[in-house]
Amino acid sequence: MESSISRSIQKDQASRLRELVGDRRPMANSLAIVSGKGGVGKTNVAVNLSICFAARRKKVTLIDLDMGLANADLLLGLSPKYNLAHVISGARTLGEIIVQGPAGLQFLPGASGLDNLANLSEFERQNLLHQMQNLEDSTDILVLDCGAGISKGVMRFAHFAHRVMVVTTPEPTSMTDAYATVKSLARDQYRGTVGILVNKVSGSADADATFQRIAQVAKRFLNFPIAYFGHVAQDSAVVLAVRARSPVVIRYPHSLASNCFAAVASSWAADLPSAKRRTGFFQRVAGLFI
Ligand SMILES: Nc1ncnc2c1ncn2[C@@H]1O[C@H](COP(=O)(O)OP(=O)(O)OP(=O)(O)O)[C@@H](O)[C@H]1O
Ligand SMILES: [Mg+2]
Repeated sequence: MESSISRSIQKDQASRLRELVGDRRPMANSLAIVSGKGGVGKTNVAVNLSICFAARRKKVTLIDLDMGLANADLLLGLSPKYNLAHVISGARTLGEIIVQGPAGLQFLPGASGLDNLANLSEFERQNLLHQMQNLEDSTDILVLDCGAGISKGVMRFAHFAHRVMVVTTPEPTSMTDAYATVKSLARDQYRGTVGILVNKVSGSADADATFQRIAQVAKRFLNFPIAYFGHVAQDSAVVLAVRARSPVVIRYPHSLASNCFAAVASSWAADLPSAKRRTGFFQRVAGLFI
């Protein structure tokens, strides 16, 4: 009896969400950027790659989903007045918090305390999802700068992106934590593509060795394939750019790191699925609530 009532409530919620989220529209290609260990360069990768995509005439939306320390705005040199917390509270619409970044990039500033996303009321959830879907219509690539670690909040979002980029450095602690992230995705039967981006490398051999070690262990113990998403060189230009509150690809476009970001973006841009085959990130997220 109880289960039939709960099934009918779920069905009701599902149809309401379908009304809001819709079924047929072409959706964005989503890339969640995660890591095990903190401080490995996720935000730098998210910001600089987004700018490179935008420079290749892609419509890019970067969302700062770091639920602990949202700081992509700092790297972009922006001081947004509003952020996702204002959308959730109903004070602002999603469209009202979008900030224009370099090369036409659309940026949605994050908020610490967004961890409450899982605890929103039905109305708040639906309102947010509805607004996000409208946003998706005007986006080719949705880049999500997620927080470090494998907390439920991070993994929930990563799980519903088409691709997950696990950022690691060649340090053993970072690699171990990257593997733990892959393991968590494998355990949750993530169906998209998981790839490794190796940051702060001394060269391509260093990157390759780092990738191979993680990929081999994942294959052997998890039977889980991992793609190679590229590498970014250890480069003091990145540190200087961060200090100047400017993305390295803008401040030092000819630096080693900027060349790496351009190479990664080029390989990605050529590999984006066509709009017809896409299932939206936010449609998948909507599935969490029904
Ligand atoms: N390729 C690089 N070369 C040199 N330094 C780098 C590089 N990438 C990142 N850094 C340094 O590492 C710092 C941390 O980078 P970033 O903030 O992008 O990491 P994060 O993974 O987003 O951290 P968090 O887990 O706290 O969100 C930067 O401020 C910069 O000084
Ligand atoms: Mg970060």
